[in-house]
Amino acid sequence: MGPGPSVAHPRALRAQAAPLVGHLSNVMLQQMDEIKQGLQYLFQTASPYVCLLSGTGHGGMEACLVNLLERGERVVIAQNGIWGERAADMAERLQLEPVVLRTGKDDEGGSAFPVDTLIAAVRQHKPSALFVVVGESSTGAHQSLGGGRLGQACRDAGALLIVDTVASLGGVPFLADAWGVDACYSGSQKVLSGPPGAAPLCLSERAWSKIQARTTKIASFNWDLPMIGRYWQWQPGAPRVYHHTGAVSTYFALRECLAVVGEEGLEAMWKRHSDAAAMLWRGLAELGLEPYVADPQYRLVTVNTIRVPDGADWAALVGHCLKEYDLEIAGGLGPSAGRVWRVGLMGYSCTRANVALVLEAFRTGLEAQGWTKKK
Ligand code: GLV
Repeated sequence: MGPGPSVAHPRALRAQAAPLVGHLSNVMLQQMDEIKQGLQYLFQTASPYVCLLSGTGHGGMEACLVNLLERGERVVIAQNGIWGERAADMAERLQLEPVVLRTGKDDEGGSAFPVDTLIAAVRQHKPSALFVVVGESSTGAHQSLGGGRLGQACRDAGALLIVDTVASLGGVPFLADAWGVDACYSGSQKVLSGPPGAAPLCLSERAWSKIQARTTKIASFNWDLPMIGRYWQWQPGAPRVYHHTGAVSTYFALRECLAVVGEEGLEAMWKRHSDAAAMLWRGLAELGLEPYVADPQYRLVTVNTIRVPDGADWAALVGHCLKEYDLEIAGGLGPSAGRVWRVGLMGYSCTRANVALVLEAFRTGLEAQGWTKKK
């Protein structure tokens, strides 16, 4: 019940235990084709440019930046936590020109950007791309894309819209095509409830054309999307070409995770996650605890950040949960370090029974510390 890995779905673990097959065998290629169908549903896209990268969400972030942008190109980064920081770090390494937006004067995060602020920044800076994080797991903030408004503004300004959906995809509404998203990536170990090591990725036709029009070689062999696309057969009927050894067992698991998503249905999943978060926050309020993200419109339901009140010891509570309940929750990360507890409600872990357990662990843990809500 931390920010991930969430509890793996038993079907994923069983699938992962199947014997290995060759990474270009018919069995593997069929699994990959089925995974592409599952990803199209998950991302809500008809794009053929979908795949799993053999890596984590960081791989997805790096793949987007290194493929879609060339040295010296400007990228506006909406930074409201650690993932924007990392994107800015990668942009510097790639010798791009990052323009970093911040949500406020302090660097604590705990908020997201009004869509109009992002639209104004795109108009002002005229970047080649805008980078945003839907679910900022370090601060628990949820960035809206304003339906299709942000995507449309990016298209009008000639910018690509790159979106990090690592800690959110499957748990909150996300419609890649309808919202005009050009590139997005996620992680396998969050709402999908698979093992870490596979990053779902999706590109729009516009993003693909930009890659085709590059004048310089893609700086990373490992994340060269045209090469990876030949392995995943993005062009119908084209020969499958070896690029790297796909993470066979992890792909087997992910195929199963995507089947589980299809069986429940995205709308039911979105509702299950928001209902669980509502139950969590009702219980936390009764204990006298408050959200780190003050404005409810910016609150993420998949990773919930709870402000550590004066006089409470966050680390002792994390230890109490583990020792007394075998329950993993986390402290803060990056800008929220020492300021919050983070409770993940993701995929297979996201049940009413687990929320009740978390609330019980908080109640007894705070009691054990002698912390009580000020009257
Ligand atoms: C990792 O994704 C984290 O938020 O801790």
